[in-house]
Amino acid sequence: MPAYPAPKLVLILPSPALGTAGARTIDREPRVTSQSLQVARTVKELRQLTAGWRKAGETIALVPTMGALHAGHMALVAKARTLAKRSVTSIFVNPAQFAPHEDFGRYPRTFDADCAKLASAGCDLVWAPDVGEMYPEGFATRIAPAGAAEGLESDVRPHFFGGVATVCCKLFMQVLPDCAVFGEKDYQQLQVVTQMVRDLNLPLEIIGLPTVREPDGLAMSSRNAYLTADQRRSAAAMFAAITDAARSVAQGGDIAAATTKARQHMLYEGFEKVDYVEVRDAVTLKPVDAGSPGRRRVLAAAWLGKTRLIDNVEV
Ligand code: PAJ
Repeated sequence: MPAYPAPKLVLILPSPALGTAGARTIDREPRVTSQSLQVARTVKELRQLTAGWRKAGETIALVPTMGALHAGHMALVAKARTLAKRSVTSIFVNPAQFAPHEDFGRYPRTFDADCAKLASAGCDLVWAPDVGEMYPEGFATRIAPAGAAEGLESDVRPHFFGGVATVCCKLFMQVLPDCAVFGEKDYQQLQVVTQMVRDLNLPLEIIGLPTVREPDGLAMSSRNAYLTADQRRSAAAMFAAITDAARSVAQGGDIAAATTKARQHMLYEGFEKVDYVEVRDAVTLKPVDAGSPGRRRVLAAAWLGKTRLIDNVEV
């Protein structure tokens, strides 16, 4: 049983109040706040906790994450608290969305610090299964999203949205939330999950929230921690470049010229490789031309050393 040494947090095992065998409760010291954070590690523990809430007529909002929580994640958690009586944050680094050559092994894992942040933010429950609980021996079913999942990220990471959709579908079925909150930071992911929920009639609402940024415009991301000081300085060029492209397209400028300029800007500022800079329909993510109706989005992905950053802005 792991201990949580985070200061000012007291660990109680199991939670006698809820009678949940094995579920952990992390209580902040009463003089700080009476807020308490439960941690469920198995589907059984999770169901015991959430069933009690539902029986009491309480609504639930879910924030799916892979942990290493920063202000972007915490904005989703804060929103979740306003959307439902109870909020659940899942922390699960999902192997199904990483290819063998990607950073699954070195992805930042900061569980204790994450729990301390979630306790302060008033989150009710952390859903933190291990890989064996999420994908038990013999697991063999996978969601295969198309539509919004085609192109962009999928051209470079063909395995990715199958893994994301599968784990999100499982998280939704495990937690049974009334709504789930996602960031526009991963804009294609937000559209893929929204489409899956619509296509499969999953009984929850998907809420998208704007990207939280550093003062220089860089979108907050757990992967920013990989950047060297030089790379960190270059990283801000991505937001500047796509913002410029969005402005130009909004003013009727040529799309190919705007995206080419954005690419060149990023390469000039130190990005080694640009996977894409594209202007797409904001809902279907299909390519658009100058006269296309509806909202449009500029999306980009590029590399600084071994770190791949993505970002997007509305036109
Ligand atoms: P993760 O990268 O941890 O992101 C969790 C959620 O936080 C996503 O909805 C993401 O869009 C949002 N987010 C990340 N950075 C943000 C920022 N700067 N501003 C606002 N929101 C931000 O995305 C995933 O995890 C996984 O793919 C997951 C959905 C959990 C499935 O495994």
